[in-house]
Formats: sequence, C-alpha cells, structure tokens
Amino acid sequence: MIDLRSDTVTQPTEAMRTAMARADVGDDVYGEDPTVLELQERVAEMFGHEDALFTPTGSMANVLAVRSVVAPGQEVLCEASAHIARAELGAHGAYSGVTMRTWMHPRGQVDLASVQTLFAPEMGPFFVRTAAISVENTHNFAGGAVLPLGDLRDLRDYATGVGAAVHLDGARIWNAHVATGTPLAEYGAIADVMAVCLSKGLGAPVGSLMLGTRDAIEEARVWRKRMGGGMRQVGILAAAGLHALAHHVERLADDHAHAKLLAEACGVDPETVDTNIVVVPRADAAEVVLRAAEEGVRVALVGPTVVRLVTHLGITRDDAERAAKVLAAL
Ligand SMILES: Cc1ncc(COP(=O)(O)O)c(C=O)c1O
Repeated sequence: MIDLRSDTVTQPTEAMRTAMARADVGDDVYGEDPTVLELQERVAEMFGHEDALFTPTGSMANVLAVRSVVAPGQEVLCEASAHIARAELGAHGAYSGVTMRTWMHPRGQVDLASVQTLFAPEMGPFFVRTAAISVENTHNFAGGAVLPLGDLRDLRDYATGVGAAVHLDGARIWNAHVATGTPLAEYGAIADVMAVCLSKGLGAPVGSLMLGTRDAIEEARVWRKRMGGGMRQVGILAAAGLHALAHHVERLADDHAHAKLLAEACGVDPETVDTNIVVVPRADAAEVVLRAAEEGVRVALVGPTVVRLVTHLGITRDDAERAAKVLAAL
C-alpha cells in the first residue's frame, strides 16, 4: 500500500529510533527531562519566542496557545476551514469557553478586509470581544497553501493597532519555510503565540510545541497538566523531535516535488500546489477513495466531494510515480 492519506502516517526511521533509545530522560512534570528542555529551548530559539512547551498533540498546543490570549467569553477570528475551527472537535469552546467567527477563503489566506469587518472591539457587556486572530500556515484543508509573509505582516500590524493577539497554527510551518525560504524567525515574529508539530511532515511519532512568552508558557504548563498532558520520561519522544529537526526539514522539498507530480496526474494545476498536500475535487470522492485502495493507493476523503493526497517521509519518488499512474487512470 502507498499511503497518501496524511503525513501523520510515517514510521520512525532506524536512526530516529536509535536517537530515541539513547535519550537522556527525567520527570518532565518536575521540569527535569534534559531532552525535553533541549527541544523546547531549541524550538523557541528557532522562532524567536521566549519559551516553548512540549505537548502530546498539535491540538493541545493550539488549545493552550489560544486560551493563553483569549479569555472565556471572548472570540478568536479564523478562516472557515482552519484546523482549530473544523478539526479540533470544539475543544476551544468546550475547554476554554472561546467562541469563533470565521472568514472564508478558498486557499485559506488572510482576508484583511473580512478580518476588519468581523473585528469586534470591547463594547461593554453587549457583544463578544475579539481577542485574537488565528492563521494557519501552511493551510491543511486549503491544500497545504502557504500564507505569504507580506499578508501575515499586514495582519500583525492591524492586530497590534486594534489590540488583538495573533495565533499561528504552524503544524506545517516547516513546509512553508522550505517552500519559500522564509526564515522560521520571520514567521515567529508575526505571532504572539503559536503551535508547531513534529509529528506531521517531520516524521516524529508524537509531539508538538506551543510557543509564546515565558508567562504564557508558565500558565500553559499548568493547563497542560490540568488537561492530563503532564508526561514523565518523555525525552524519548523529544529525542525523535530533535532528530527530525536535524535531519527531516530540508528533505520536505522532495515531498513538495512528489505532490506536484501527483497533482498533474489528478488534473490539478501543479502551480496551485505549494507544498505536500493536493486536494482533488471529485463528485464521486468516496468512490475514488475505494477504487484507489483496491489499486494499492490509500487517499483520504476530507469532504463529500474532496479527496486529499499528502506526501511524506515514507513516500519515495518511485511510490509517487506508481501512485500517479493509478490515480491518473481513475
Ligand atoms: C493544521 C493543523 N493543525 C493542528 C493539527 C493537530 O495536530 P494533532 O493531530 O497532533 O492534534 C493538525 C493535524 O493534522 C493540522 O493539520
């Protein structure tokens, strides 16, 4: 089977498993795991943030990050197909009392005019106040689209002007970095708080981080524990993340090339594929998923008429070429 359902299906490489087996560990709830501390420090530094916190999932990192800048009864604005709105199962409302309003963009981009229209300042005890604006880069359900740095900077300036925070869901920020050459610190600079994942294109089995100020991270540590995310000798997992950062970032360019090849086979303009995700509109999407599986290619149904293909560490050039043949025939 060639598995293109998601970049979360990767297997740890032998070298990653060795790094995990050799990791120095301690009790991270006591803040004593040296490998976790190293990872947190390294990632915070990469993005120019004061501090970082290791979390089991990207969803938890997003929940902790958003709640650190949006109080219960306040709102965050985001694009309608953002992961925080569509795929975290209402966590921001259920755990943090946060509401959301959304703008729509077919490529998940910042639409500053819509943000300005939606933005609600403090208006007394009558209306929900907008406390933060969230962006996702790359944008998963918009086909791994990159958000241009200029748009993000304009949003940052606007948010600063109106006193709102910016949250960046950077689950795949590494792909945006490799696709555009934009330094990670420049992406970090547009956000007050952000989340990044090691368990997507980077190929670690588990792990994400929330980034922000020292105070925000201190508070998030309490909430992580409250949510059941306080982990113990978790340096074994952090070591996988450190290994991935050292060895699996630059190779994302291969995934991007493979995605273009698959796009072409599926009749999608490769120029619209920025990174490692291809979304294919098909009226018979469920049927396509079944038939592709019969031919040895697993693809995902992410909407009634949308098939998604994602390239990753486990897909070689040969796999991509074989999958392209199967998909072209369908
Ligand atoms: C953009 C984005 N943000 C956050 C997440 C959440 O990550 P996790 O599955 O680790 O909770 C995902 C997962 O695919 C994602 O695509």
